[in-house]
Amino acid sequence: MIILKLGGSVITRKEAEKPTINPDNLGRIAREISQSNYHKLIIVHGAGSFGHPFAKKYGIGDKIDNLKDLQHKIEGFSLTQHHVRKLNTSVTEYLIKNGVNAVSLPPSSFIKTEDKRILGLDLSLIKDYLELNFTPVIYGDVVLDYDESIKMAVLSGDQLIQYLAQHLKPERVILATDVDGIYDKDPKKHPDAQLLEVVSKAEQLQTGDAETVDVTGGMGGKVAELLQLADKGIESEIINANQIDIIKNAINGEKIKGTIIKGMKKE
Ligand code: ADP
Ligand code: IPE
Repeated sequence: MIILKLGGSVITRKEAEKPTINPDNLGRIAREISQSNYHKLIIVHGAGSFGHPFAKKYGIGDKIDNLKDLQHKIEGFSLTQHHVRKLNTSVTEYLIKNGVNAVSLPPSSFIKTEDKRILGLDLSLIKDYLELNFTPVIYGDVVLDYDESIKMAVLSGDQLIQYLAQHLKPERVILATDVDGIYDKDPKKHPDAQLLEVVSKAEQLQTGDAETVDVTGGMGGKVAELLQLADKGIESEIINANQIDIIKNAINGEKIKGTIIKGMKKE
């Protein structure tokens, strides 16, 4: 089994003011997935310009001040949920057109968090879909939270990856983003940034402030989730989905450029 994340930076135009997909990337990536030799595959995708700007504008996950604020956040939750679902529909449309038997699992309809973290969820449905060789597609979404002071939270695709990988124990966890991997500092701001082949602790890198609106912590949030996973003995790899054929080659198990996140206790 492979769990693959398609970052919002790859499938959407993350810097766009309005929700905008990246049709060229979506088409090519769906083709690459269908041409690869995956056996069991779970796809997780991010929200990009379909999620972050709304979640930020309405302060989803922030403490609720009063009744008016609650109403405002409820409005924002609906709007965010609607847009990320639209993105998910586009993603599955591209996958299905290319022969991948995608089946959508919207987190807001079956997951709740406690203080922004997934507590537990019934994975039997996902397992049943995999058993029949469907490709479950799950994504960064807004969800209800048990904490009464916030009531709602943003659930990132990266946290989903962490949770699913920990409980389903896939052979590979691959995260596709818009840079070659993890660098010692943001390669978009620092031309001298060095690509790190292996990351085992957060101190190896700086992430700085994201260029785009990112309510789930950008690269810093991603690395934090993946290090938690690495501590449990599950390795993951970050690759650049803007490079042609890299997703196909990664799924096929070929050696490619990128960063491996692995725990320090291993070996
Ligand atoms: P995605 O939307 O694909 O999940 P993010 O937008 O959250 O990805 O994170 C990718 C971005 O993180 C890159 O475009 C890069 O500019 C930024 N970034 C910040 N710090 C780093 C770093 N140390 N190494 C790599 N990328 C970084
Ligand atoms: C964010 O998911 C979800 C919402 C903002 C609703 P991600 O954090 O996984 O999205 P990307 O990959 O960074 O765009």
